[in-house]
Amino acid sequence: MKKKLIKILNKKFNYPITCLTAYSSDVARILDGNVDMILIGDSLGSTLYGMKNTRGVTLQMMKDHGRAVTSNVNKSITIIDMPYNTYVNKLQALKNAKDLIKFTKAKFLKLEINRNNLGVLKYLSDKKINTIAHIGVTPQSYANFNKIKIAGKSNYHRKKLINLAIDAEKAGAKGILLECVTLKTAKEITSAVTVPTIGIGSSRFCDGQVLVFDDLINLTQNQRLPKFVKKYLNFSNLAKKAIKNYSNDVKLRKFPSHKHSYQ
Ligand code: KIV
Repeated sequence: MKKKLIKILNKKFNYPITCLTAYSSDVARILDGNVDMILIGDSLGSTLYGMKNTRGVTLQMMKDHGRAVTSNVNKSITIIDMPYNTYVNKLQALKNAKDLIKFTKAKFLKLEINRNNLGVLKYLSDKKINTIAHIGVTPQSYANFNKIKIAGKSNYHRKKLINLAIDAEKAGAKGILLECVTLKTAKEITSAVTVPTIGIGSSRFCDGQVLVFDDLINLTQNQRLPKFVKKYLNFSNLAKKAIKNYSNDVKLRKFPSHKHSYQ
């Protein structure tokens, strides 16, 4: 596992890193070995629980979903989010980080990083915790997702974000996740740091890509999805067809048949 971990996080890795989210054991089993990394993201708050934002996600929720995922993953590398308000200061962050890692055995912790909490990132990294710094759009900063704006657009913001990425690496981050960062800024960050960048809505100029699995298969159907989401499967439509068939079979007494009954 260690070798693989180093390989994946090595900048010289010669093809882009693939990562998708999982919140459950079923999805974990589907993803395991088919992507390099699996993220137990706090997006589960909005995606799975229908919350307005990710601020209602608790450490206990991350622990429960985290363990459901990690106990079904053998090949891919797992990353788990530190939820809102659980890394406000160094000691609180360390206590919660240890708790989350001990319970889930996830390999990396992801924290949403800004200028003010770089010290917390450094503190955890110094304590030998594998950290990923999530920068650009950091959803935990938003009570209202409609207010989210693309990051790194102006010259001023581009420079600020590049410096933040460099400082996050200096603070010990083993990877930088870029969310909704403009192409030019993502490209510059990727060449400015030696650790891999993993992008979501941040162009192909990152060392890897991540998407929310539920979005990729269109499980979230009518929800308005961001422009960067590519739907690779229309699961909702397939599921609806299957449900229709099931209902018809039940109404016509075709199901359960002899084959599906105990004699
Ligand atoms: O929580 C999450 O799923 C994430 C992704 C959007 C990258 O942080």
